[in-house]
Amino acid sequence: MARTLHLGAFLHGVGHHSAAWRHPESAAERLGDIAFFEESARVAEKGLLDAVFFADGHSVNRTYTAGTTWFLEPITALSAMARATSHIGLVTTVSSSFWTPFHAARMLASLDHISGGRAGANIVTSMFDAEARNHGFDALPAHAERYARAAEFVEALTALWDSWGEDALLVDR
Ligand SMILES: Cc1cc2nc3c(=O)[nH]c(=O)nc-3n(C[C@H](O)[C@H](O)[C@H](O)COP(=O)(O)O)c2cc1C
Repeated sequence: MARTLHLGAFLHGVGHHSAAWRHPESAAERLGDIAFFEESARVAEKGLLDAVFFADGHSVNRTYTAGTTWFLEPITALSAMARATSHIGLVTTVSSSFWTPFHAARMLASLDHISGGRAGANIVTSMFDAEARNHGFDALPAHAERYARAAEFVEALTALWDSWGEDALLVDR
């Protein structure tokens, strides 16, 4: 059987290198411009990549990356990118430490409907205390506690997605 390589584009602000924004041809002015990300998704799709991917965090962290970082909220951005493309996968990052499973299940299912089944999720437990402070905590919970919650989070997420049958809506006027 032929082996195939799957490739995705990891879109990160306007470049991965912390000084990439300084390049004369960088798209630094377009950090919050959805048209830039729609164009990036179209280029990735034309180039036969399988997916575009957004990492995500819930704080600005100057020790981790300088220059450009996450700006647009990934699920809303991917919803626009879904309408600008036809078949490329749309993968977001979701924090199991800060989101509730219901909220995640609803947002991801909505992106999946909007995109015709192209949504994907990278579930993370988050990395920085600065993120926790944006959610009213002093610090991130301990590693074991975060990963225990993540396991239950994924279980609840999939149970919620399976809680409606494909034939649940009868539209019987
Ligand atoms: C390629 C890669 C991408 C990652 N992207 C994110 C991300 O977008 N958001 C996040 O909070 N953590 C991200 N992480 C961090 C992981 O979720 C994880 O916290 C990290 O690998 C450390 O592992 P540990 O939590 O077991 O200590 C990423 C890790 C890797 C290797």
